[in-house]
Amino acid sequence: MAEFVRIHEVGPRDGLQNEKRIISATDKIRLVDMLSACRFERIEVTSFVRADRVPQMADGADVMAGITRRPGTRYTVLTPNLRGYEAALAARADEVAVFASASEGFSRKNINCSIAESFERFAPLIWRAGADGVPVRGYVSCVVDCPYDGPTPPAQVAEVAERLRRLGCCEISLGDTIGTGTPERVAAMLDAVLERLPALELAGHFHDTNGRAIDNITVALEKGLRVFDAAAGGLGGCPYAPGAEGNVATGKTVDHLVALGFETGIDRDRLAEAEAFARSLRGAR
Ligand code: HMG
Ligand code: MG
Repeated sequence: MAEFVRIHEVGPRDGLQNEKRIISATDKIRLVDMLSACRFERIEVTSFVRADRVPQMADGADVMAGITRRPGTRYTVLTPNLRGYEAALAARADEVAVFASASEGFSRKNINCSIAESFERFAPLIWRAGADGVPVRGYVSCVVDCPYDGPTPPAQVAEVAERLRRLGCCEISLGDTIGTGTPERVAAMLDAVLERLPALELAGHFHDTNGRAIDNITVALEKGLRVFDAAAGGLGGCPYAPGAEGNVATGKTVDHLVALGFETGIDRDRLAEAEAFARSLRGAR
């Protein structure tokens, strides 16, 4: 039997968050429902962050309330602090995610605090989630380069990833936020992280700015990773990461994995429909 690779669909959140034109909650709900029909095990629906910082995600509660929940899919959201967590809980999120950075510059711009302070904000959230039985995923951004600080030392990525894991995150997603990673640099970063954490607790989150995301997934597969984040239609970017282009497209990722002999469990025809709809939501660039 083919080995399984899980795709964590981040299109409704990472794919849409940087769109300038505000997309209606109805369209976001339709996208999530179309993605549910593809049989993803996890879909990242929205984030509970400051509306003045990321206006596109301001309707997170409405979107969560409007989606049709498919048994077998877990609906996840980004939560930077306790306030975000409480909103996520009220919205019946199945899983939440905290997001740290491996670089100080991006931490300050993105979440308005140092890396050390971010852990002080995450700790009470992760304890509360533990008590509530809600799993917490941990993101590490800028694992290769930071738009403000330049190249990120691999040891710094390993340090932040291990701290998130020790705090109680169930899975650590390693983000090449601005998509400048090459297979060689991604391999060096992964080697440093794998000295501290097992491959099966990690996920790869590759933006495709330089068209290397698929090559980076290949190298991560060789290192033993079996979870990858992707966005329907290749949408995406981060408002605090200038130059960051789309996430790796989900269809392209599924096709690559299948060509390598892996099983993803995704309905490819339904995914083609969801990707076409996702692309139709994208504004002119
Ligand atoms: P802050 O200003 O430092 O927070 O924001 P604060 O605790 O000082 O509070 C200031 C005000 O914000 C208060 O309101 C709080 O209530 C409010 P006031 O009393 O002045 O009226 N506030 C909130 N409101 C709504 N939801 C909340 C919340 N928390 C405080 N959760 C914060 C810190 C992180 C919230 C802010 O900087 C923020 O919202 N940043 C946006 C971060 C973001 O969403 N970035 C994009 C996602 S990350 C990403 O894309 C990377 C990733 O894909 C991986 C990769 O590619 O690398 C994950
Ligand atoms: Mg991202």
